[in-house]
Amino acid sequence: MLSTKIVKRVDRLKGEIKVPGDKSISHRAVMFGAIANGKTTVEGFLPGEDCLSTISCFRKLGIEIEQEEDRVTVYGKGWDGLREASEILDVGNSGTTTRLMLGILATRPFHSVVIGDASIAKRPMARVTVPLKQMGAKIDGRSEGNYTPLSLRGGQTKAISFHSPVASAQVKSAILLAGLQSEGVTTVTEPHKSRDHTERMLKAFGVQLQEDETSVSVSGGQSLQAQHVVVPGDISSAAFFLVAGAIVPNSEITLLNVGINPTRTGIIEVLRKMGAKLQITNERVINEEKMADLTISTSELGGIEISGELIPRLIDEIPIIAILATQANGTTLIKDAEELKVKETNRIDTVVSQLQKLGANIEATEDGMIIHGPTPLTGGQVASFGDHRIGMAMAIAGLVSSEEIEIQEIEAIDVSYPNFFQHLAELI
Ligand code: S3P
Repeated sequence: MLSTKIVKRVDRLKGEIKVPGDKSISHRAVMFGAIANGKTTVEGFLPGEDCLSTISCFRKLGIEIEQEEDRVTVYGKGWDGLREASEILDVGNSGTTTRLMLGILATRPFHSVVIGDASIAKRPMARVTVPLKQMGAKIDGRSEGNYTPLSLRGGQTKAISFHSPVASAQVKSAILLAGLQSEGVTTVTEPHKSRDHTERMLKAFGVQLQEDETSVSVSGGQSLQAQHVVVPGDISSAAFFLVAGAIVPNSEITLLNVGINPTRTGIIEVLRKMGAKLQITNERVINEEKMADLTISTSELGGIEISGELIPRLIDEIPIIAILATQANGTTLIKDAEELKVKETNRIDTVVSQLQKLGANIEATEDGMIIHGPTPLTGGQVASFGDHRIGMAMAIAGLVSSEEIEIQEIEAIDVSYPNFFQHLAELI
């Protein structure tokens, strides 16, 4: 049964919350723990559906994993500890699980079948299966291995030097993970630098890699040593409340322990450029990752252009940036963001169609969108289309709309922020 949620306008938002753990880092902590030697412990893990899919897949691959809320213990047995699964590996809604796991399985000498939900079945996998096949893995699936279900037989692989046409951390990570067990030096180069959590965490697990601005290289034959991983709060989850704090009148919100890795802080730059009052305090570094407390308060906002190297640094925040732009004075132009079309939904279509229903002045372009603000948002019925970030963006829109908003398929939010509505209630 699909559920709906009604969100109403509020007069202000005040308070302090600790957003859940970073999704990208939580996935990696489990996967790297699974291929490392020894016991990896994780605190601050995101118990959202996507990361639980990663745990379930690696359990099927023979790894013992204990999980209780945000604490996880992974009993890694090294690369050779992974075993052929007797069941299909179901990644649910998670693109990160799919692509990074394919990189790991590419070098394992056994057969695996990978499947996911209806959204995963539409997401392009050739961006990882083509280079992994070049390295020597045998992969098949619909459209020559572009779509799930995928069947994979890994084995002895050789290094490649790969120029990715897209800035994608999932592509970069999959190839680097395969490279760790391939003969020779594997290099991935991308058009702009994508999030670098893989590089940082691999270093923490004892791997040697060489990096320059847009390329990373690893030598084959490297093993990982178990670690204790502290996961910072997810800036992509914090983004919903950062925007809420900026656009709801009389607000002041503090978000504690948020990851501020520079490859993820595009949203902070955008908020500041638009004129938001945002303070960063208590900065510290844990496990190679920077975190801080962020305090946002209501302010006058102005439209800006968002493009180029900034796009990969805020790609997941574009749905909520669109809401922000509807409340800013002037035009916001988002371009170079074609990647939005291959996310959990086609986010150019879903953002533009749902915001138009609420009376926003927004139009889709080939590689992004144009928003003219400020426009009052009206109420009405919208849907998440099964996309967690569309569901949360619509909920924030409801806080400033004249009439209530009814959001359909709201359970999608559990993918990355299971206690989103509890946190919202605490701030009202
Ligand atoms: C992620 C990388 C990004 C991002 C996704 C998580 C990761 O995707 O959109 O939510 O954890 O590596 P791409 O690598 O496809 O850009």
